[in-house]
Amino acid sequence: MCGIIGYVGNGEAAEFLMQGLTCLEYRGYDSAGIAVFDGRDLRIEKAVGRLDCLKEKLQGNTPAGHIGIGHTRWATHGAPSDLNAHPHADCTNSFAVVHNGIIENYLSIKEELLAKGHHFKSETDTEVLVHLLEDVYKGNFEVAVREVLRRVEGSYAMVFISKKDPDTLICSKQDNPMVIGLGEGENFIASDIPAIITKTRRTYIINDGEMAVVKKDSVWVFNKSGEPVTKKVLEVNWDAEAAEKGGYEHFMLKEIHEQPKAVRDTLTGHIASDNSSVILNELGWTAEYVNSFAKVYIVACGTAYHAALVGKYYIERLARISVEVDIASEFRYRQPIINDNTLIIVVSQSGETIDTMAALKEAKRLGGKTLAVTNVVGSSIAREADQVIYTCAGPEIAVASTKAYTTQLIVMALLGAYMAGLRKTVAPEMMQSLLGNLKKIPEGIETALQQEKEIKEFAKKYSTKEDLFYIGRALDYYVALEGSLKLKEISYIHAEAYAAGELKHGTLALITNEVPVVALATQKSVYEKTLSNIKEVKAREAVVIGIGLQGDKELQHYADHVIFIPETEELLAPLLAVVPLQLLAYYSAVARNCDVDKPRNLAKSVTVE
Ligand code: G6P
Repeated sequence: MCGIIGYVGNGEAAEFLMQGLTCLEYRGYDSAGIAVFDGRDLRIEKAVGRLDCLKEKLQGNTPAGHIGIGHTRWATHGAPSDLNAHPHADCTNSFAVVHNGIIENYLSIKEELLAKGHHFKSETDTEVLVHLLEDVYKGNFEVAVREVLRRVEGSYAMVFISKKDPDTLICSKQDNPMVIGLGEGENFIASDIPAIITKTRRTYIINDGEMAVVKKDSVWVFNKSGEPVTKKVLEVNWDAEAAEKGGYEHFMLKEIHEQPKAVRDTLTGHIASDNSSVILNELGWTAEYVNSFAKVYIVACGTAYHAALVGKYYIERLARISVEVDIASEFRYRQPIINDNTLIIVVSQSGETIDTMAALKEAKRLGGKTLAVTNVVGSSIAREADQVIYTCAGPEIAVASTKAYTTQLIVMALLGAYMAGLRKTVAPEMMQSLLGNLKKIPEGIETALQQEKEIKEFAKKYSTKEDLFYIGRALDYYVALEGSLKLKEISYIHAEAYAAGELKHGTLALITNEVPVVALATQKSVYEKTLSNIKEVKAREAVVIGIGLQGDKELQHYADHVIFIPETEELLAPLLAVVPLQLLAYYSAVARNCDVDKPRNLAKSVTVE
């Protein structure tokens, strides 16, 4: 799960490569490097640590040249070190490569190349690519790369540079993302769009097995058999500004504040003006089609998995179809029961998470109908699924997902209501009320955000604690899961989410006056029971931070602090209740001096299993 970048044109390659790598750093940040052809040689510079370490190393010493490649790494094979950092070069320093993914048959290729006298400098699987290229190169770069691709197995997105062909970059991908940006007299290669968006909006999305030969004035794309492919230009409509921090200290805070807009954008055009029905023209389903689903699976990872849990609730409650939710990395190993009456929904912000992709492929192989909910147009998952609904969150850069989650909940609510509309399982007046309230969610989030100052204070106060519990019932439990994940991943405080009623079956033993409890009480149908659970933890001297609906005096009475969210329907409360939890996690991490946007050991896009 690394970021790769390439440049060929008239400009200074190193300048673009470093700028592009900054946008890709969320994909991995344990080491970085660039290779630039300086007119005579391939100059390779790398440094272990964040990109800043490489920037420091390059100060006053940046390689000059108009063609180059770069990489930001998240270690899989070989520890983070200068030697294992990419780019990797062959024995003669004639070729270099950057790679994202895993070469599964690297050991056998390495043994063969070692026997032929090649010298390896790193412990990476990647290095075999460039020695193999050296080995098979007979004067034609393109032919040689094609031969390398023929030999390697696994997942990859890679870019090669050659000192012998100093006007050409060659790239290819399999199961990892790659985009080519089309400029005037210059072209760009990157793992994803934010890295090139300041330069061009015109892109080619490279498909699995394709290979592209990129020069400053041309881009040729070939399929696996070496035949030219006519690519369609995909115009990116993201706002370049949107990929920058825009005055906020961290991307995460900016993205938390972007939620009203992201949610509004995701809702746009999907609810009839009289609130009577959901419009999902991208699906075009009929009642007969929806009634044919005997079962729905929702499969995802991380935060998207938490959105999937809420999705289950929505589809079951509204459309009355049975739904199972699976963690993507588990799904295909348990031999799920799938046939053509099964709908499999995969949820993925990036559209590139390899486990989610593998689950999707398995679902298709077994004959299920597939639907992707993703944020990235043209992503691998979007292209693989039979149908797609896009969240319109814009680029999400912080590793901890926020606006992707709320927009995923919006799509889940729309989908549940859409299916219910077709199946006629919800009375018209209830539907109208639900959809009317859904339209009000952006304002609700704006109101919820206004308590930022108080939340910052609680966060400061409790950030010295090492353990926290999050409890809730019904949908509050799923929000608790997301809130505790947020806190863990960025502040490194141990946090656990529990179904409030389950606490007494063992975990209550851990509650003391040193363990604050965040208690969600937004679900009216289980409100009294939740209050009882709050009393249980209070009796064990826990400090309770309650999250409740505006004006809830009872909660105020029992909890030590209360954060209110605006009044809304029970089903939609997660969309508002998650906001204070995101802020609580954010300010706890800031108070603990953690690197909020790039938490240790984590990456934004996980393209390894
Ligand atoms: C990583 C990210 C999480 C994200 C998960 C799934 O773990 O750090 O924020 O929720 O991957 O990513 P996806 O792009 O599939 O939603």
